[in-house]
Amino acid sequence: MADPLPYYRVLRDHHPLYYVGKWDLYALSRFDDIWDVLAVSDGTFVASEGTLPAANVLAQHNTGPVPDPPLQPLPFHAVFDKPIYDDIRRLQSPAFRPRSVSDWEERVRVLANERLDELLPQGRFDLTCDYGGIVVAQVVCELLGIPIEFAAEMLAAVNAGSLAQAGSGVDTAAARPNYLEYLIPAVARRRAEHRSGELPIVDGMLAYRLPDGRALDDAEAATQLLCIFIGGTETVPKIVAHGLWELARRPDQLAAVRADLAAGVPAACDEMTRYCTPAQWFARTARKPFTLHGTTIEPGQRIITLLASANRDERQYPDPDAFHWDRPIKRSLAFGRGQHFCIGYHLARLEVTVLVAEWLRRVRQYRIVDDGATRLPSSFQWGWNSIPVEV
Ligand code: HEM
Repeated sequence: MADPLPYYRVLRDHHPLYYVGKWDLYALSRFDDIWDVLAVSDGTFVASEGTLPAANVLAQHNTGPVPDPPLQPLPFHAVFDKPIYDDIRRLQSPAFRPRSVSDWEERVRVLANERLDELLPQGRFDLTCDYGGIVVAQVVCELLGIPIEFAAEMLAAVNAGSLAQAGSGVDTAAARPNYLEYLIPAVARRRAEHRSGELPIVDGMLAYRLPDGRALDDAEAATQLLCIFIGGTETVPKIVAHGLWELARRPDQLAAVRADLAAGVPAACDEMTRYCTPAQWFARTARKPFTLHGTTIEPGQRIITLLASANRDERQYPDPDAFHWDRPIKRSLAFGRGQHFCIGYHLARLEVTVLVAEWLRRVRQYRIVDDGATRLPSSFQWGWNSIPVEV
């Protein structure tokens, strides 16, 4: 994880379905293979053990399909297949549709400018956390009904929860219990208010009924919000800060994007997302046999989709390790595909675009302090947690 890119190239070229005996899993590294496998929607692959299973889960080898966990207390819905997963996702989706997200554009712009008003006079600060990090954490607070003053500590908690010591995986369940301390009170407050309208995601969880008619308690409803809490906070700021760094390294490209912000920024943001996205892999567990490259993956075995390798696959992107702000991107796996496709796709793209555009509009000159940037160890992320910048 110190630098996975050379390994990905070897995997793509020589071991496109690489078996890791210790975890009884196959790593998929080619764009086309991942594209096809994630499109399989007949229950062959289910996230029964989580989309980011911990090392202690993977260390247990299954001898057949993994059954659904008990329904009480209801765990995070992504571990189920139809109907529970689909029903809960359907209740969370309306808030993330293009029309709902476009209502956020002005708010994200205001939040970005409030940060810039505070940061620019300081001259030097952390481009990852102090700028984009706080803005997106504030958006998550407003989406989920968490008081906005918790944004900074939420951001710190999410960033800390992704870290691991070399050699060990992230036990996400153990690393992340404190997230519920923000979410459970938000759900409880909403339940007590008996209102409707402004918090459709939380209201959806309160309205949800399991197939046996049971409603969720506060902790169960909060658990269904964990992925929005994490996904909404941890990725966008790293892409924005790292992407602005890549532009700063290439003055000709920076000038080209600045020349027409309205047209240049959205294109540059797509390339930033391909090039800088921190999440490296997500897992699924097979429920039915599936054959790829002549090998049959048996029920109970796992696959991991190395999305970061797909983003650098030369079969899909010519000269993949070069950053070209206007690279044509016809197909992308940066947000996944199929059943678990990023629910925050439109919001994420809006946030990246607004944060980059407002930065370039207001900051005429900036310099990244290269030797102060840190990319802390994690077993599933390779992203710049901190990028000092001077303006
Ligand atoms: C540029 C930023 C982002 C990237 C690159 C990204 C990427 C991804 C990817 C690759 C997945 C699929 C995981 C899998 O296959 O198991 C995913 C899922 C998810 N993302 Fe994002 N994401 C981003 C931003 C966001 C934002 C802003 C939110 C919400 C506010 C969000 C919420 C989620 C959720 C809830 C899921 C789980 C979906 C499910 O399992 O049904 N993401 N994201």
